[in-house]
Amino acid sequence: MRFSQKQRRVLTWWCRPGDWEAIICDGAVRSGKTFSMGLSFFLWAMARFNGRQLGLCGKTITSLRRNLLAELVPYLRRLGFDCWERRSENLLTVRLGGRENRFLLFGGRDESSAALIQGSTLAGVLLDEAALMPRSFVEQAVARCSVAGSRLWFNCNPENPQHWFYREWILRAREGRSPNWEMISRIKSATVHWLCKNYVNFYKANCIYPFKT
Ligand SMILES: Nc1ncnc2c1ncn2[C@@H]1O[C@H](COP(=O)(O)OP(=O)(O)OP(=O)(O)O)[C@@H](O)[C@H]1O
Ligand SMILES: [Mg+2]
Repeated sequence: MRFSQKQRRVLTWWCRPGDWEAIICDGAVRSGKTFSMGLSFFLWAMARFNGRQLGLCGKTITSLRRNLLAELVPYLRRLGFDCWERRSENLLTVRLGGRENRFLLFGGRDESSAALIQGSTLAGVLLDEAALMPRSFVEQAVARCSVAGSRLWFNCNPENPQHWFYREWILRAREGRSPNWEMISRIKSATVHWLCKNYVNFYKANCIYPFKT
């Protein structure tokens, strides 16, 4: 697979030293946002955490499986990740190089969805099609990320300018920044990298060099 320039940016933003706490991809339809963000999310999570829980959110769990996991899980397996899903628990466990993290699947379909994610402690959350989710759910998901070093990953298609996600997140991120695939800076975080051979090989194979190898 040949990644575009923007996809490379998504795949490397967390590798670079900096103070980014969140990323928003609001690029064009079918531009490869979900796949690149999903892949980067797993690479980041497995590099940074061990024994943690992270959230994967779609409008419904079915759409999350169809749009994100169906292509991504086989790709991760090819990279050497052990992935297994307990469908009844909406749980995906991923293991690599002695590390293991749990990815909880959530559907943010309506106002009642916030209650489903409430109570969990997360080290990061990916929201695919965030603009289709109610504000209460998105805010609850953000509030769940209380583990040190947690980051927020938002993915959405362009929405009308009155949409709350557009006004509250995208417009704010855009102040002084490029128009799409935004990154939001909110805190300073030290970057300590843990990268195993698989990561280095993945980035090398794709001619992406976000760090010294
Ligand atoms: N660099 C790439 N090379 C080849 N195929 C790719 C690449 N990136 C993504 N794809 C494929 O293109 C299709 C669309 O990708 P993806 O679902 O990530 O796009 P999207 O921007 O999220 O689309 P949507 O606007 O529908 O949400 C998927 O089948 C994905 O596997
Ligand atoms: Mg998508």
